[in-house]
Amino acid sequence: MMAAVVVPSECVMSEKLVIGNWKMNGSAKLVDEFSASKFPGNVIVAVPFPFLAYAKSIEPTLKLAAQDCSTLDGFGAHTGEVSAAMLKEVGCEAVILGHSERRKSYSTDTPQNILLKLENVTRNGMTAVLCVDEEYEKLLDAETLALVKEHPDSIILAYEPLSAIGTGAAMTPSGISTTLQALRTKCQGIRTLYGGSVTPQNAEGILSLPEVSGVLVGGASLKLEAFRAIAEKAGAV
Ligand code: 13P
Repeated sequence: MMAAVVVPSECVMSEKLVIGNWKMNGSAKLVDEFSASKFPGNVIVAVPFPFLAYAKSIEPTLKLAAQDCSTLDGFGAHTGEVSAAMLKEVGCEAVILGHSERRKSYSTDTPQNILLKLENVTRNGMTAVLCVDEEYEKLLDAETLALVKEHPDSIILAYEPLSAIGTGAAMTPSGISTTLQALRTKCQGIRTLYGGSVTPQNAEGILSLPEVSGVLVGGASLKLEAFRAIAEKAGAV
C-alpha cells in the first residue's frame, strides 16, 4: 500500500486565490454555466446580489462573494440596504469592499464608511477583500490600518491600479511586486491580491510572484473558459 501524502498546512495556506468580480454583469444563465463547472483550486465568484442565493441553491460548493454591503449590520427598516448578516446567511464567504468604481461613483463610499463595512464583514465571519488603488496611502488611514492589522486572517488587500482596470494594460510584474511588497510592509504581512486586466495570457506571470496571494479578475471572469484558464494557472504556480 502506498504511504499517504501529507500536505503541509503552509501549502494549503499559500494556495493562490482567484476571485471573479462580475460587477453589474451576468445573468441567471451565466450563473448556471459557472455552477455546472467545477473550478480547480481556490476560486470565489462575486456575482451581483440578486444571483447570490440562486447560485448557492443550485451549487452549494460554489464559493461566493458579494460586491459590497451596507454600513449598517443586522436587519431593520433601511430600504435598499443589504447587510453583511444577510450575505452570511445566503452563504457568502467574502465581500469586496471599497472598489474604485464605487469610491468614484458613490460619495458614501468614504474611508469612514468602508471601515464600518469592514467591521460588519469581519464580525459576521466572512473575508473582506479591501480594494485600494494608486492612492492607497490616503485610503489606508490610521483606523483602517489598525483594523486590517487586527484581522490578518479575514482581511485581504486587493491592489487594483486605476490605470489597469478594464484597460487591457495590466501593471508590469516588477511594478506589482514592488507595490504589493510595500503594502505588505505597511500592513504587517497581510495577504495581497492584484487586479487589473488579468487574462489567461498574463495570469501565470502575475500569479507566480511571491507577493501575489491571488488575483481579482473583472472582464475575464465573465467568460467561463477564460476564467477557468486563470484558475488553472493559479493551481499550477
Ligand atoms: P478588469 O479585470 O476588467 O480590468 O477589472 C478588474 C477589476 O476591477 C476587478 O475588481
